Amino acid sequence: AEFDLVIRGGTVATATDVFRADVAVHNGQIAAIGENLAGARTIDAGGLLVMPGGVDTHCHLDQVEMSMGYGAQDFVTGSRSAVLGGTTTAISFVSHFKGEPIRDILAETLKRGQRSIIDYSFHQILADPTDEVLAELPAIVAAGIRSFKVFLTYDAIRLDDGQFLRVLAAARREGAMVAVHCENYDAIGWLTEALLAAGLTAPKYHAWSRPKVVEREATYRAIALAELVDTPIQIFHVSCAEVAEEIARAKRRGLKVWGETCPQYFALTAADMDRPGFEGAKFMCSPAPRDEADHDGLWAMMRQGVLDVVSSDDSAFNTTGHHAKDQNGPNASFRDIPNGVPGVGARMPLLFSEGVVKGRIDLPTFVGLAATNPARLYGLGGCKGAIQPGADADIVLWDATKTQTITNALLQHGVDYTPYEGREVTGWPVMTLRRGEIVMQDGEMVAAEGSGRFLARGPYELARPLGRLANGFDAAAYDRPGATR
Ligand code: URP
Ligand code: ZN
Ligand code: ZN
Ligand code: ZN
Repeated sequence: AEFDLVIRGGTVATATDVFRADVAVHNGQIAAIGENLAGARTIDAGGLLVMPGGVDTHCHLDQVEMSMGYGAQDFVTGSRSAVLGGTTTAISFVSHFKGEPIRDILAETLKRGQRSIIDYSFHQILADPTDEVLAELPAIVAAGIRSFKVFLTYDAIRLDDGQFLRVLAAARREGAMVAVHCENYDAIGWLTEALLAAGLTAPKYHAWSRPKVVEREATYRAIALAELVDTPIQIFHVSCAEVAEEIARAKRRGLKVWGETCPQYFALTAADMDRPGFEGAKFMCSPAPRDEADHDGLWAMMRQGVLDVVSSDDSAFNTTGHHAKDQNGPNASFRDIPNGVPGVGARMPLLFSEGVVKGRIDLPTFVGLAATNPARLYGLGGCKGAIQPGADADIVLWDATKTQTITNALLQHGVDYTPYEGREVTGWPVMTLRRGEIVMQDGEMVAAEGSGRFLARGPYELARPLGRLANGFDAAAYDRPGATR
């Protein structure tokens, strides 16, 4: 036989087309797409969709927290849940804390990644762009970490505008993408004080502390500052259409600005945080889930290509226990409950069921949002997220008609709950291959811990600056660590 493996008789779905074909795999890569291909092994994909394995470019797996603690989801549980849900590539985060150098956390994080089952990379968080930290960046980028993540809110890590400009300048020099958490820090602080003063402390007031305008203002500001420095950026976790509209306007001006949303913004609402007792805390994430009407707006923005990516933002806290949602007690105010929801495994089934099955997006749009676009945006295009010759044979076989009730046990992640418990979805992955190797079959993970590979990301076109500068003056070139100012 010519090839190692042939996936026969399925319906191939890419970000542009849907067609009947066999897919041949050789040496871990896709070798051919065509008819009547022959391989040493055959997988019958009759009646199934054959799609690129999902690419989740925003999930917090094994992220080092303050004082070297870790989140509930590590690389083993996170990547196990990922393959069960059809995802084969993840980008997690290297933490950074104010006043500390990055190198020790980087070394520790790279070591933790070695337990992954899926292929993985990292974004570098920058919490404090001092000269010392900026001087570390060329080595970090050379190590294959070609994207920076910044937060415009959260007490311990947020950047003010001046600090954000320095990160944008560093990214411009390095050819790195910048991912931004956009919420107005001072507005959230001011609203939170007022809510607490009014005695409004239940989980549902989390949403009241950060309404849409708080996110929209920060999104506008992030885009404007990125335009000033001429640095490509992605706005993370866009919660609603009026925030996405800022991205649409930037795109119309020809700027390199991309948008991400997450299942929690089309599958949950602020009302979920209004469940009795502490239940609401399970649905708390930032930005906050909005309302039913906002879901329609998000789908429109996905259809229009304003939102390019659906990531999980898996940021998992157990309900109870160490560093859990209830770490400050079951009556803690919303301010003191950690933010984030798990979702690395549920991401693709939720997007497929809510999107494709309900007729809100077509199948190529699904593949683009879940796999192809995130791969391209973070420098993995051609290698990940694509069914095309030369790409890694990361493939998910998907039963588009199978109905499944999501339960926490089914997801096999490292967390004691899922916000989607009891939800019925249509469409479910039945087999996942990573570089041609079966890593999930019928809901069982069958890969070895540590078989995932670190993806070093080199220079790529999407992360290159446009070359549009006010007055033609490249201020970033003068904002170097140690430059005389
Ligand atoms: O609430 C969230 N999203 N927590 C995770 C960290 C982040 O902001 O992405
Ligand atoms: Zn964020
Ligand atoms: Zn996140
Ligand atoms: Zn902890």
